[in-house]
Amino acid sequence: MAKREIFSGNWKMYKTYDEAVELVNGIKDGMPDTGGREVIVFPPAVYLRDLVKLCKGSGIEVGIQNMYFEKEGAFTGEISPLMAKDTGVRYALIGHSERRHVFRETDGDINKKVKAAFEFGLEPVLCVGELLEEREAGNPEDVVNRQLELGLKDVSSEQMSNMIIAYEPVWAIGTGKVATPEIADTMHKTIRRKIGSLYSSETAEILPVLYGGSVKPENIADLYSRDNIDGVLVGGASLKINSFLDIIHVNIN
Ligand code: 13P
Repeated sequence: MAKREIFSGNWKMYKTYDEAVELVNGIKDGMPDTGGREVIVFPPAVYLRDLVKLCKGSGIEVGIQNMYFEKEGAFTGEISPLMAKDTGVRYALIGHSERRHVFRETDGDINKKVKAAFEFGLEPVLCVGELLEEREAGNPEDVVNRQLELGLKDVSSEQMSNMIIAYEPVWAIGTGKVATPEIADTMHKTIRRKIGSLYSSETAEILPVLYGGSVKPENIADLYSRDNIDGVLVGGASLKINSFLDIIHVNIN
């Protein structure tokens, strides 16, 4: 099976409605003949239904940045997986470091969200990554392995064929400090090894593992040249049409 190549943009809590439409139209206009490259955007939830319509047929897929795990109920302010699915999105970003560290989501919450995504026909993009102090303590692999083990509890091998993992070291997010391609590639190898032991070497081999953390047009070529980096999850640089287009065109022009 050919490896997937995935270029995704997490818009976080940025953009008014008009700006969001302008950004998506700009990406659409500049979409390369990607030769099978997949492009995903994760806009704020209130724009999803409209942006899904706008992206139809363009080759751009849309995902939600977060959702709750219950189908419905008295959970003020939350969005259910059923509601997410109903907007037409294909993907759900789960366990982003800002969800883990700003909103205190636990690995248990994240596991429920991963399972809820599958239950409602969404494809999860599970984010993992260590804090700076965890890296400095010398055990970033243990942190990521634990996040994978707990986050993927009771996820079947079959479901794993619709799973994407994003490695986002917390110290590299929004800081301008990109993980060196060596650090990212090594951690991606660790992720594959863990998936191999939890599932199978075939599952590990085809699993798309994306890197996120200060990805820019200037560093994409080096990151993307590494064997274990199947794509990227871009924050800040996905908010500008040209910089996101430069990233998704890497090695095409
Ligand atoms: P930056 O690219 O702004 O560092 O953000 C990365 C990220 O968190 C993507 O989800």
